[in-house]
Amino acid sequence: MRLVMIGSGYVGLVSGACFADFGHDVVCVDVDETKIAALKEGKIPIFEPGLDQIVQSNSAAGRLHFTTDLAGSVQDADVVFIAVGTPSRRGDGHADLSYVYGAAREIARAVQGFTVVVTKSTVPVGTGDEVERIMREENPDADIAVVSNPEFLREGAAISDFKRPDRIVIGTEEPRAVEVMRRVYRPLYLNESPLLFCERRTSELIKYAGNAFLAMKITFINEIADLCEKVGADVQKVAKGIGLDKRIGDKFLHAGPGYGGSCFPKDTLALVKTAQDAESPVRLIEATVAVNDNRKRAMARKVIAALDGDVRGKTIAVLGLTFKPNTDDMRESPAISIIQALQDKGAIVRAYDPEGMQAARTLMSDVHYGNGAYDIAEGADAVVLVTEWDEFRALDLSRLKSLMRQPVLVDLRNVYPPQELSKHGLRHSGIGRPERPQA
Ligand code: UGA
Repeated sequence: MRLVMIGSGYVGLVSGACFADFGHDVVCVDVDETKIAALKEGKIPIFEPGLDQIVQSNSAAGRLHFTTDLAGSVQDADVVFIAVGTPSRRGDGHADLSYVYGAAREIARAVQGFTVVVTKSTVPVGTGDEVERIMREENPDADIAVVSNPEFLREGAAISDFKRPDRIVIGTEEPRAVEVMRRVYRPLYLNESPLLFCERRTSELIKYAGNAFLAMKITFINEIADLCEKVGADVQKVAKGIGLDKRIGDKFLHAGPGYGGSCFPKDTLALVKTAQDAESPVRLIEATVAVNDNRKRAMARKVIAALDGDVRGKTIAVLGLTFKPNTDDMRESPAISIIQALQDKGAIVRAYDPEGMQAARTLMSDVHYGNGAYDIAEGADAVVLVTEWDEFRALDLSRLKSLMRQPVLVDLRNVYPPQELSKHGLRHSGIGRPERPQA
């Protein structure tokens, strides 16, 4: 089959490369000429484990192509995926759909023969209807079906999420499109991944409801963590204790500094707005958004408390800057708010991240970036573990302590058991855990 991805950002590139790996003929399109030129040379603009090999092998096999020529590639396509960005619109939190609608117009002018047009970008309920209206207005003769097919990829685990999905959601009631989409996903269907066919609007809402639920689940355990700190309970055991109940499940119950990234913050806000517009408010998600925003600043207060209430002139070493490990993505990372709040209180901040420092430098120029955990810990009054990269999971704690001015470790991801930190003479503070080891 001939597939075209409009937008070679995170979703378009990962999906395009994986579809090519299934044997489809894929063209990835982008307006950014520099990006396309780099991709043609096998240079991947994002950090995603395993993506470079898939792009290289499928390009070499002649199944994966890159171009800026949208019209030329769409002409012979069986399926055109719209995978352009839908950022939060400045000021009101609504998803900005101008790129989606722009792509729809261009596709409409170029299609020939029956073509399935799929929105892969995360788009509010009703966007598929508008895409279809725009396309029919632009080219009344176009033989098209507009389908919703949201993606559920996690950054850092996108390849395995694509190849072994929990489910594939396809929103269309047009029989010809159902047939085409079955062929697109045949390799996964053969692998027994469930394909859920539903109405287009239902599919669009599944994506938002899914992300909002996960964001709410994280926020729930974060609030329980705060309560644990007050009443002397251990949130990790509470999470385990509730997670073993199959109705709750053990995933997404790791308490931490609050969720970040390019999806949960944006999608929760967009769902809140959609629901308000529909006069059916989602109060749980409104609360989730507010609690998560406050949490990031509260994490800075935790660090300040660990340094006896005053960080002025003190040096704080921040381990991990990206919103989660295995990505170079800094968008909405809790590290940004935490660092800003600490600097506002007069702290000198040093930081290290295995992949995120290039992006971090453009956002925070007044941070001293170092070469590794031990490098930035030297002379520090506190080390704060913000992102749980693997290389921070087995630090030589004695060495760390010996380098520091004060032996304070604030572990915002509960990587280290309190007992281990105490054993190495580190004063510590985690998330939702008793500060002293219990007998
Ligand atoms: C999320 C969803 O997990 C994907 O299914 C979805 O496709 C994607 O958004 C999207 O809409 O494109 P992603 O943003 O890559 O994926 O990252 P997650 O692994 O979900 O983590 C999001 C945030 O929640 C991170 O800041 C992470 O540290 C935090 N988190 C996650 C926790 O604090 N605790 C947890 O238990 C899990």
